Amino acid sequence: MMKITDIKAGKIKDCRGKWTVEAEINGAKGAAPGGTSKGIYEAKEIDAEDAVSLINGPLKEKLVGREFTQETLDDELKKIDESQDFSNMGGNTSTALSFAFFNREFTLKKSSFPFPLVNVFGGGKHGGFSDIQEFLVMPHEAKSFSEAFETSKRFYDAFKSLAEKRGPVGRNIEGAVTANIRQEDVFDLLLKVAEDVPAKIGIDAAASELWNGEKYVYRNSGRELDSGEQVDFMKEIAETYNLFYSEDAFDQDDFMGFAELKKKIGAKTLVCGDDLTVTNADRLRMALDKDAVNAMIVKPNQIGTVTLALKAVELAKSAGVTNVMSHRSGETFDSTIARLAVNWEIPIIKIGLADTDIAKMNELARLWSLADRPKMAKL
Ligand code: PGA
Ligand code: ZN
Repeated sequence: MMKITDIKAGKIKDCRGKWTVEAEINGAKGAAPGGTSKGIYEAKEIDAEDAVSLINGPLKEKLVGREFTQETLDDELKKIDESQDFSNMGGNTSTALSFAFFNREFTLKKSSFPFPLVNVFGGGKHGGFSDIQEFLVMPHEAKSFSEAFETSKRFYDAFKSLAEKRGPVGRNIEGAVTANIRQEDVFDLLLKVAEDVPAKIGIDAAASELWNGEKYVYRNSGRELDSGEQVDFMKEIAETYNLFYSEDAFDQDDFMGFAELKKKIGAKTLVCGDDLTVTNADRLRMALDKDAVNAMIVKPNQIGTVTLALKAVELAKSAGVTNVMSHRSGETFDSTIARLAVNWEIPIIKIGLADTDIAKMNELARLWSLADRPKMAKL
């Protein structure tokens, strides 16, 4: 239990230059990240300015002077909000407060560290030519977090110099390389780098963004695939390039697409839900009923509190689904997700090499030095 003696909030910018809300409880801070390719089932955000006024006014009034645990505070926020999806107070408001409380109370409880899953080449709504939103690598042979961090950076740099040989390259909002390179060639370059810098390869198709209600539309290649054809295409990519990870290969309502793909490649590949499951235990239960996933993205702001995110994480664990903690494309220097990943023993954390992601990487490196006999997670 902790008595809340002081609450404050202010506006800060995320890495996309958008305002977001940062809350402070008893001197500890928490900031809400924001998404760009958001799922329709996520907690709703309100304007950052309104979130700040809400915290500094009515919420401060209701909460200061009372004692809470993380769970009772998060329950109270949910109760005050009264909606299913935090549409009244905003999932950003609740996330900032919930993170601040968590950070005030934080002590390191576990010693198993997540492998970073790093976005090295990108497109889609994050910027870039590629239809597939993210090409990801995970340094699975690393023996320590700092080695994993170093290997990710080496991989990124090596990939970037190969891409530069083919023409101009840029950098999108997640810090991933962007270039006008065909999808097949991106995979070839990734495999080439992986010969020297050991890493496994994965993708986030962010396919809710490709789905037009009837087909998955790939603007670059001109492909237009129905759900069955998308299953075949995603299977072919996973097998050809030996992918260990395939996130949001289908639209957020296409449970059957996920289920078909999992049937075909699930023995070797993590078939991961993001927009599909939105860190929501009820959505995960629907996915489990249809045997649609064997991995789940964990973005606490998708559901609005630490406690609700933990509920989904625990359900995933009990069902043998691999949890993947994840940043958003609109991040701040808040590193709460790094601390949550270790204390919740989550084996993978999807962060990139943008400045705001380095903050999370550094927090994990710092926690490693504090942990009792730290080790990398079992994959
Ligand atoms: P975001 O999504 O842009 O909504 O944060 C990133 C992702 O799809 O994983
Ligand atoms: Zn995603």
